This record gives sequence, structure tokens and C-alpha cells, in this order.
Amino acid sequence: MAYETILVEIEDGIAMLTLNRPAVLNALNDQVFSELAEAAAKIANDPSVRVIIITGGEKVFAAGADIGQMASATAVEVTISNRPSHRALQIIENMPQPVIAAIAGYALGGGCELTLVADVRIAADNAQFGLPEIKLGILPGAGGTQRLPRLIGAGRAKELIFSGDFIKAEEALRIGLVNKVVPADLLFSEAKKMAKRFADRGAVALRMAKSSVNEGLRMDLEAGLQYEHKCFSLLFATEDQKEGMKAFLEKRPAKFLGR
Ligand code: CAA
Repeated sequence: MAYETILVEIEDGIAMLTLNRPAVLNALNDQVFSELAEAAAKIANDPSVRVIIITGGEKVFAAGADIGQMASATAVEVTISNRPSHRALQIIENMPQPVIAAIAGYALGGGCELTLVADVRIAADNAQFGLPEIKLGILPGAGGTQRLPRLIGAGRAKELIFSGDFIKAEEALRIGLVNKVVPADLLFSEAKKMAKRFADRGAVALRMAKSSVNEGLRMDLEAGLQYEHKCFSLLFATEDQKEGMKAFLEKRPAKFLGR
């Protein structure tokens, strides 16, 4: 399937999804969200893909939802047109494989919110983050008021949401919005290095670990611990668990087959 607003490349078990509307700084319209949803749903079901990298390329991640598309919208239209963004973000958030966001330049509004559904965020040193929706008379409507406080705490999230101010990569690192800041020219090599490190682990354990964290965050602690225990127990039915522990005892690297 050919997409018009995103690029999809799959190589050595790593899928790279690149936003591709450079003329409008990768502004996210319904078509981008629909194509992202479709590509992500397909990749989620592809066992050959071990890790996903989402990026906007070397210059900009995304300057937010497409304001041109939103400007004259009515409340009824927004109710309906909100769906592609929610659907895409939910599909990406629930992909069984780890998702890494590789962020250069602006990650604003819906662009910043897109990074929040990744498992890990790597920022180039030229990255800037912000939720400027308040300056447009709206609020972050693609999960920003929900996912950001869960990631960095309510106080810091509210400061960003209420002010609409942009913050630089180092500040994003300091408040826990990103995992790592790297020189801009190393962004993709660093993201791929991390992806490869994840891909070399046992694929079943990786999926279970992601599910255990994500599902656990939706539960109270006791239910989360029960869920974790079920995931943990189930992994003892895999060949990878036998191989991982045998390899440790034989003092050699494990060879995981993902089963
Ligand atoms: N939607 C549509 N077009 C956008 C856009 C957006 N979010 N952001 C930038 N563009 C377009 C500009 O209109 C401009 O197009 P033209 O060349 O045709 O004029 C082009 O991209 C380049 O942008 P600028 O000339 O503005 O570039 P700059 O370097 O001077 O400024 C910027 C960059 C600070 C990111 C500025 O473009 C900006 O403030 N963009 C809007 C950011 C924003 O408010 N994002 C939130 C959107 S709302 C949202 O995301 C809702 C939600 O929660 C889902």
C-alpha cells in the first residue's frame, strides 16, 4: 500500500514510520492519522517487525494538528474528525512491539502528543516541545491533558498546557519528557542502535514486558501485580526462557528465537 503523507520502511526487523508533509512542518491532518493508523495496524500484526521507530525526519517532528483543517470546523465536525487522531494514537500506543519516537526540531501540539504514545523518546539536541493549543483557544485534544501528566506529573504538565510555552530538548530531558538527548546528526543512528538492542532480546518477553507496564498503568497496584505475575508465569512456557537461563548458566550469549 502506498501512502501519501507518511513513509514506511522495514529493514532488519525495524520498521521506520516517517511523517512526510515537509511543506507544512508535518502538520497532522486526518489523512496523516488515517495512514498512520493503517500502517501501524499492519505492522502490529507483522511478527517479522520487532521494533518501530516513528520520526518526522531530520528537520521537524510535527508542528501539531493541521490548523488549516481545524480553523473553520464546527463542534460537530470536530467530534467526528477527532476520531482519526484518537484511533491512530490508540493503535500506536497498543502496538505489541516497542515504539521509539526519534524527534528532531519541533514536536508541538498533536506532534508532541504523538511522541507520548511511543514507549521511549529520543530527542535531537535541536528538538523543541510544546503544547501551544491554549494560544489557539483550545486545549491539547489528542491525549495531551491525559498522557502528559501521567508521564511527567500534573504540575509540570499543567505549566506546559497552561502557558503553551516551548521547551528545549535539555529541559524535556530534565522533566522526564524524553529519555535521551543526542546530537542532531546522530539521532537516527542512536534510535536504530536502541531499536537493535531491543530487537536482540526475546520477542515474547519484550511484548509481555510492554503489556505488563501498559496494562498495569491502567490498573490499581494490586491488580497490576497480579497481571505482572500472569505475564511472568506465562514466559516460563517459552523456549526463550529456557534458552535465556541456560545461556546464562553456560556463560554464553543467548540466542532467542521469539517463541
Ligand atoms: N498546521 C498547519 N500548517 C502549519 C502548522 C500547523 N500546525 N504549523 C506550521 N504550518 C505551516 C505554516 O502555515 C507555513 O505554511 P506556509 O509556508 O504555507 O505559510 C509552514 O508550515 C511553515 O511554518 P512557519 O512559516 O510558521 O515556520 P516558522 O519556522 O516561522 O515557525 C512554528 C514554526 C513555530 C512551528 C510555527 O509554524 C507554529 O507555531 N506552528 C503552529 C504550532 C501549533 O500551534 N501547533 C498546535 C496545533 S493544534 C493541535 O495540535 C491540536 C491537538 O491537540 C491535536
